Amino acid sequence: MQIRPFTVDDCLPAIAFWQGMAGITLNESDTPAAMAAFLQRNPGLSQIACVDGRIIGAVLCGHNGRAGSLHHLAVDPAWRRRGLGRQLVETCLAALQQAGIPRCNLFVYSDNETGNRFWLEQGWDDPSSWKVLQKRLLQSTG
Ligand SMILES: CC(C)(COP(=O)(O)OP(=O)(O)OC[C@H]1O[C@@H](n2cnc3c(N)ncnc32)[C@H](O)[C@@H]1OP(=O)(O)O)[C@@H](O)C(=O)NCCC(=O)NCCS
Repeated sequence: MQIRPFTVDDCLPAIAFWQGMAGITLNESDTPAAMAAFLQRNPGLSQIACVDGRIIGAVLCGHNGRAGSLHHLAVDPAWRRRGLGRQLVETCLAALQQAGIPRCNLFVYSDNETGNRFWLEQGWDDPSSWKVLQKRLLQSTG
């Protein structure tokens, strides 16, 4: 098993890996072109875990100069509870720290029980005094 930076060539297989996975919702930012643009804006931050060239884990990571963001962390069901999710996240956070980014945010659906347990176990805060507000700027194509 190898963890390595997510490259533009990984976009199509990673989208196939995420498709249909409980806890992961793909949207208009998950076309190969949009994902390639995200990777180019955030070189070396997103990570892939693979075995014999096959993806068994993936996470997108970026930052805006003030805070990092993680998206679509997922591990193949056959490889879960072996510390792979934790390793993928730690690799991203180390790269963000290296870039001088002091904090990282992520979205997790309230009803994603596994996801919530995973993040809280890794020491992520769930500050009940915050709300996430969002405004759609383009009509959804999906
Ligand atoms: C969330 C996910 C990435 C975790 O990957 P993983 O490789 O199984 O996680 P790890 O083995 O690194 O788990 C680290 C710790 O998190 C906690 N944890 C992970 N999965 C858990 C579960 N199903 N129930 C309770 N705690 C869990 C445990 O404390 C675990 O440590 P332990 O196994 O020593 O008890 C994986 O379950 C997944 O792909 N889920 C579907 C996609 C998803 O919901 N992603 C999150 C989007 S926000």
